[in-house]
Amino acid sequence: MLHQVLEQQLRIAVTAVLPDADTASLLVRPCPDPKFGDYQSNALMSLAKTRKMNPRQLATDVVAKLDVSQWCEKVEIAGAGFLNFRVKPDAITQTLQSAFRGEHLFYTKANQPRTIVIDFSSPNVAKPMHVGHIRSTGIGDSLQRVLRLLGHHVVTDNHIGDWGTQFGKLVVGWKELLDRATLESDPIGEMERLYKLVNAQCDADPARLELAKQELVKLQAGDPDNLAIWKEMIRLSQVQFDTIYGRLGVKFDHTLGESFYNPWLGNAVADLLARGIARESEGAVGVFSDGSMPPKEDPFLVNRDGEWVADPALVRKSDGGFNYMTTDLATIEHRLKTWSPDEIIYVVDDRQAPHFRKLFLTFARWQADAAKRVTLRHVGFGKILGDDGKPFKTRSGDTVKLGDLLDEAVERALKVVVEKNPDMTDAQQREIARVIGIGGVKYADLLPNRQSDYVFNWDKMLALTGNTAPYLQYAYARIRSIFRKAQDAGDWQSAISSIQLNAPEELGLARHLLNFGLALEAVGDECRPNFLCNYLYELSGHFARFYEACPVLKAEGAERVTRLLLCELTSRVLKQGLEALGIEVLEQM
Ligand code: ARG
Repeated sequence: MLHQVLEQQLRIAVTAVLPDADTASLLVRPCPDPKFGDYQSNALMSLAKTRKMNPRQLATDVVAKLDVSQWCEKVEIAGAGFLNFRVKPDAITQTLQSAFRGEHLFYTKANQPRTIVIDFSSPNVAKPMHVGHIRSTGIGDSLQRVLRLLGHHVVTDNHIGDWGTQFGKLVVGWKELLDRATLESDPIGEMERLYKLVNAQCDADPARLELAKQELVKLQAGDPDNLAIWKEMIRLSQVQFDTIYGRLGVKFDHTLGESFYNPWLGNAVADLLARGIARESEGAVGVFSDGSMPPKEDPFLVNRDGEWVADPALVRKSDGGFNYMTTDLATIEHRLKTWSPDEIIYVVDDRQAPHFRKLFLTFARWQADAAKRVTLRHVGFGKILGDDGKPFKTRSGDTVKLGDLLDEAVERALKVVVEKNPDMTDAQQREIARVIGIGGVKYADLLPNRQSDYVFNWDKMLALTGNTAPYLQYAYARIRSIFRKAQDAGDWQSAISSIQLNAPEELGLARHLLNFGLALEAVGDECRPNFLCNYLYELSGHFARFYEACPVLKAEGAERVTRLLLCELTSRVLKQGLEALGIEVLEQM
């Protein structure tokens, strides 16, 4: 892409001036204000600073060696040493043409593809998936799509919660209180009912609690009856998960639940103890602060009433059971052995940030060499709130089930669609409503900065105007309708060598198309799909201004071809961009 070509040339020029300079950080990015140019680099200023050079002098020397005349007008030095590049319309035209021929879609694959494991969604067995799961599932899915587009080797792993103390209570409920008929019709509801019932009994009656503990011990020891019940609970839960993932269009390469790691937990703890990384405390085993950082930053400490006290990472309970932490340690080890990733990304609620800080630090102490070869990264996110600013709930105060939420989204979208397209068949209306409804929910979740909480708002997310999925989906369909109306459907395509960008709106749109790859890279680098949402929304804005100012089908000759080409490429980028967010488009809406 153009910015990469310019970066390449800039690196050559800098090396000519300063042969030993580190050129990796020499970036060329879109100019924030088009008044000054299309692209800009501020890299020479920091380079001059580290070398105690005069930045304007360095810029002047570099520009003297910089050969970009094939792509740009004369490079300008601005301010303290910015370089401003103004791209020649010819260079833009050529990029559009090569994109049209399918040589690229304004992005290139990474030169050095990385292997990246993404741990996302990860719901718990025997519980309904709720509205919160849209966050990890949607963000994680979008990241895996973007990173794959950029040529990275991605492994997705759904780390489902299929092990833990709750199964003792669930087994008791299953054996004594199971309603087979309900289990058939609503398995998750029935398991949830059993758990709540037995949990309440355990709170009231120590004998029940003791029974649940015994059932858990039996399960852990491999008792065939309890194992069979547990497996059936996982199977039923997986059916539920798969239904939801099917509706969301989300797939995983692997679903290695927590239970998969059981065989390694004992050894892991023994090893942590032997190496002196973990120690016993009040019958349990935990990893404590090693005092290597200030208390404020140390996740192994908490402040209670003005005093710093230990908040260890527990890896074995006093009853001998293992913890969430233990499983996660064994999981890292397994992932490193199996896939040798450069990076492991955990898309998990920000409330688990302390867990992940402890996990990463513990792993680094435990397997220092392996830890150096991998970047462990917690990609956190905030909460979904209701109108009242409290966590989003149903009217009756229950958590909102994800399946119900998706149903409601599609129903609400259907009303809009029926109003807009009364003449369509019922099946057509339903299909559009599905695509808009699901897309609307997903997009609304990807649009805010992932770490901020956001207020769930049906009207906003399904609106046909504003920064929403339906708006972008309609923009796409509208462009496709231009091609249905164009009588010379294919003819213009043979004339693309004649295109010419003249109107400022044509140029504005074309320049924005060229930045698609930068948007994708920004998403990949920072794990922030919202960058892509905003890019696509701006693209639609550019398109709307272009379409307003530049008639397409009424134009003739080279002008018509140029405009049809811009329409075609805009629709390709919209489609690819929405797809990278996990959002479908339709040719006709
Ligand atoms: N099942 C967990 C939960 O619902 C999330 C798991 C996230 N992944 C991980 N490796 N800890 O809270």
